Amino acid sequence: MDKTAAAQRIKWLSSEIERHNRLYYEQDMPEITDAEYDALFRELKELEASSPDLALPDSPTGRVGGRPVAKFTQVRHTTPMLSLENAFTEQDIIDFDDRVKRFVGLSGGAEIGYVCEPKMDGVAVELVYRDGLLAIGSTRGDGLVGEEVTQNLKTIKDIPLRLQTEEPPGLLTVRGEVYLPLEPFRRFNQEREEAGEPPFANPRNAAAGSLRQLDSKITAKRPLSIFCYAPGEVDGVAFQSQSHFLSTIPTWRIPVNPLTKLVSGVQGVLDYYREMMEQRDDLPYEIDGVVVKVDRFSLQRDLGEKSRSPRWAIAWKFPPRQATTVVNDIVPQVGRTGVITPVAHLEPVNVSGVMVSRATLHNWEEMERKDIRRGDTVVVERAGDVIPAVVQVLTEKRQGSETLLPVPEACPVCGGEVVRIPGEVAVRCVGLNCPAQALERVKHFAARRAMDIDGLGEKFIEQLLNLKLIRNVADIYRLTEEDFMQFERMGKKLAENLLNSIAASKERELSRLIFALGIRHVGEHTAKLLASAFGSIENLAAASEEELTSIREVGPQVAASIADFFKSEENLEVLRELKEHGVNPKAEEKRVGGRFTGKTFVFTGALEKFTRDEAKKMVELEGGHAAGSVSKKTDYVVAGADAGSKLDKAQQLGVRVLSEDEFLELMQ
Ligand code: IVH
Repeated sequence: MDKTAAAQRIKWLSSEIERHNRLYYEQDMPEITDAEYDALFRELKELEASSPDLALPDSPTGRVGGRPVAKFTQVRHTTPMLSLENAFTEQDIIDFDDRVKRFVGLSGGAEIGYVCEPKMDGVAVELVYRDGLLAIGSTRGDGLVGEEVTQNLKTIKDIPLRLQTEEPPGLLTVRGEVYLPLEPFRRFNQEREEAGEPPFANPRNAAAGSLRQLDSKITAKRPLSIFCYAPGEVDGVAFQSQSHFLSTIPTWRIPVNPLTKLVSGVQGVLDYYREMMEQRDDLPYEIDGVVVKVDRFSLQRDLGEKSRSPRWAIAWKFPPRQATTVVNDIVPQVGRTGVITPVAHLEPVNVSGVMVSRATLHNWEEMERKDIRRGDTVVVERAGDVIPAVVQVLTEKRQGSETLLPVPEACPVCGGEVVRIPGEVAVRCVGLNCPAQALERVKHFAARRAMDIDGLGEKFIEQLLNLKLIRNVADIYRLTEEDFMQFERMGKKLAENLLNSIAASKERELSRLIFALGIRHVGEHTAKLLASAFGSIENLAAASEEELTSIREVGPQVAASIADFFKSEENLEVLRELKEHGVNPKAEEKRVGGRFTGKTFVFTGALEKFTRDEAKKMVELEGGHAAGSVSKKTDYVVAGADAGSKLDKAQQLGVRVLSEDEFLELMQ
């Protein structure tokens, strides 16, 4: 490459990397994968190394991350939050170990002690504890200045507000990764898709989006977690090594990933990497590699750091779970809420051990933004989601015959009207009698995770709908042996089995019925919360949006959707019919015989982890009672910050006093 071409390429790469930094750090909406970003970054670094005079003074290789966005207060980190150099191959690790050994003058057979940790795919944060109390929490930002998100971090259950120790250090700064485990991530994305919102590409973006909410009530509804992995500035305690640090902080209740391990030399690192690769698919959270750190802090200090990353640590990235394949077709699919989703039918391809033949393209906006067409060669990736996503189109492979799928003018199944609700990206069929919706609703109702009606599969349901033997889910309970006998290849025995499994489904728990109704935004987990909070369908139907949002994890959108569901005369009719047929379960949790039967709780002070209403509900579900004042009969006082006279009284009477964390632990 000649000088001019190199200069041009450097300029382009620099601005492109900056653009991706903004998309990633500030908007939580990256357009490219980590691997693609790494490739751009590496190319720029190599070009700058061979022509240092061409490097731009504000080159992105000289800084750590994105600039903090203005809406939060900014905090300066006491010591910079560095990034890590990446390794991609075994050789990169051997080279790293050689460099470390050379630097410290180690020769012969001696080995370096390394701490290996899973590389969490989340958002880096810093927590500052002064005299044992959480004082400030912030994001990494550009590594020097981050955003103050203390209130949001306080909603994370794993983060102690007070260190559990009699003698806390005067200052303890710890860094860690906030992450969203896979199960809630999938649930969250499913809910977003049903609401016609673009889903997050991976759990990291979802975690970042949740943490950077200006309203911490929204953060509180997202079950974020944290693992801590590095000290910042510390006063009053002297850690000798990373392993010493990591074994000390959990005794104060700061969570550390239990898969962290101290190993010896390169061989130890290679074995650890292999172990983690094997476990990767079974972990309840996403990891995108392993981090290798020199254990001893004195050695770390000797090694020091470069501008962007320390010399004593390296991130060994896992290969991305990606593969290249061809889009054979794009088909509009109608879901049970009427949302029409473009689905790519792919030439089947193996993506790190899983055969993939379908990918959701989410919605038209998303599909158009990525410009995905029938016949395209594309890169698909499994990124925490069960259904893989198309991350990129290889436009250079285009032949010219590729075709776009236009937004349907009518429902592809019932021919009914299609609408795009303002503010939503979803395209919806609003046909009340759309057979595709009816089919999906009945399928959902009968599914194993819902009412679990054995034998009532898709083909069967389709025929029942075609023959008009059923129109809705309540009609299932009207079916008779004669109805079934009209089907080809149906014997008496089979009909009997079907009727038995339909009858058995009447006994399912309340949470399953709530889930089975297919209320928008109400997945299995939310259904369980609703079942234990309300105890019956009638109570749920009568609940106000306010009562609904008083439940932890139920936000205004979910509450509105539940309220809408029970406003529909058609839905109420179905519920009445279900009840007539004997489908009317009660909550599984019994109020008597719970762990706190007969126990009285008093909540006092400023509660930060839950509201008084939530606490009351939690206690009542376990058979206990929440009272307003402390007396001899009080069993527990739960005290938040600035608790006053009630706390004094509890202490006088010798009543057991719990912190919010201790109360939550008791509820586990
Ligand atoms: S150590 C100087 N340990 O990866 C030490 N980082 O690519 C800096 N990360 O910014 C970080 N898991 O957000 C460290 N066990 C771990 C990690 C970890 C995830 C993230 C962190 C960091 C990024 C660097």
